Amino acid sequence: MRTQASSIIACDLFTVESVKLTTLHVLFFTELHTRRVLIGGVTDGAANLAWATQIARNLSEAREDRAEPIRFLVHDRDKRFGATFDEVFKADGIKPVRTPWPAPKANAYAERWIRTVRAECLDRVMVLGRRHLELLLSTYVKHYNEERPHRSLGLKPPGEPQPLRALSPDVGIVRAGTGRTPLHDLADTSQGRVDVEVIDINEPAQVAALRERLSDRRFDMLFTNAGTTNNEQTPIGQVPTNDFVTVMVTNALSPMRVIEALEDLVTPTGLIGAMSSGQGSITNNTTAGREVYRGSKAALNMFMRSFAVRQSGTARAFVLMAPGWVRTTLGGPDAHLGIEESVPNLVNVLLAKRERPGLEYLDYMGRTVPW
Ligand SMILES: NC(=O)c1ccc[n+]([C@@H]2O[C@H](COP(=O)([O-])OP(=O)(O)OC[C@H]3O[C@@H](n4cnc5c(N)ncnc54)[C@H](OP(=O)(O)O)[C@@H]3O)[C@@H](O)[C@H]2O)c1
Repeated sequence: MRTQASSIIACDLFTVESVKLTTLHVLFFTELHTRRVLIGGVTDGAANLAWATQIARNLSEAREDRAEPIRFLVHDRDKRFGATFDEVFKADGIKPVRTPWPAPKANAYAERWIRTVRAECLDRVMVLGRRHLELLLSTYVKHYNEERPHRSLGLKPPGEPQPLRALSPDVGIVRAGTGRTPLHDLADTSQGRVDVEVIDINEPAQVAALRERLSDRRFDMLFTNAGTTNNEQTPIGQVPTNDFVTVMVTNALSPMRVIEALEDLVTPTGLIGAMSSGQGSITNNTTAGREVYRGSKAALNMFMRSFAVRQSGTARAFVLMAPGWVRTTLGGPDAHLGIEESVPNLVNVLLAKRERPGLEYLDYMGRTVPW
């Protein structure tokens, strides 16, 4: 997750009213991994596509050399982030990712920063005009990037070397017999920041051995993703027992076994999550189909809820994620979303969730899914 996050930036716009009742527009960028914020521009004039595109060009020309290239830019569907704005980033090899619907929490990271800058700075000052706002923002952003402690960065400011990276390399898990996977390719190019472990999550002995191998490591995030399904149109009464057991064990029991086995390796303010599904929502089941799969994800949700209740009183965040219908082996070729549309948003939601202790059931745009 941290490897993905370190190559994602998000941008957004917000407005500020001056004492003379002029509306001032601010365009800013934030780097998901470090939380570093950059003010792109402030205007008291037309905050249109041409203005946003010019800011993008200025940034492109001033691009700093980064050890790790930016791969994705997340933004909402505001028409000021239109084609010419995106083209500037595409020319630099950055893929714009649009949040699919106008949902308030879709660009969760950037939205969170707007709340912060208002609460800690702009709500306390009468803004005189554009120049005054620029001065306020540059002072606040310097404080935010260089001095202000972040709970989810181990109380370090964004500008300091991140303890998250020092904490431990990311560990990704693949199943035995899978052979070489894209995760192996990622590990090869990660300069030691990604380790690959091989286990079958349905084998408790392998989970216990993994726990032993990781015993001297600490993680800020533990997220289980493995899942499976059966012949999806079979009504529940006709499902062979073996299929039922396989889906229920893989999707509901094994993720919780992994979580309970590895839970003590997660930091006190870390996040523990599992990949659920929108199909796990009992409220939203108005169409039937995929009955065992739905039941397994609903069971996972219930088990995770019990786990979170047992951990209440801790500062940890717990999350069940619904990634949308995604074109994967499991999702099939007709799914609405590509992995590149779902995953950067999903990472964005997970990182923002670290700020909010307690359990939530969220989709990849940060919207609450009804139980
Ligand atoms: N795609 C969607 O539309 C969608 C929607 C909602 C939720 N989800 C959830 O998203 C998660 C990822 O699914 P996906 O869409 O990426 O499907 P996928 O391409 O089929 O990936 C499932 C992954 O789970 C692994 N896995 C299955 N059983 C395992 C086991 N016993 N031990 C270790 N690994 C195991 C598989 O490993 P192998 O490669 O070795 O089989 C595979 O890498 C699942 O939990 C799924 O339910 C997907």
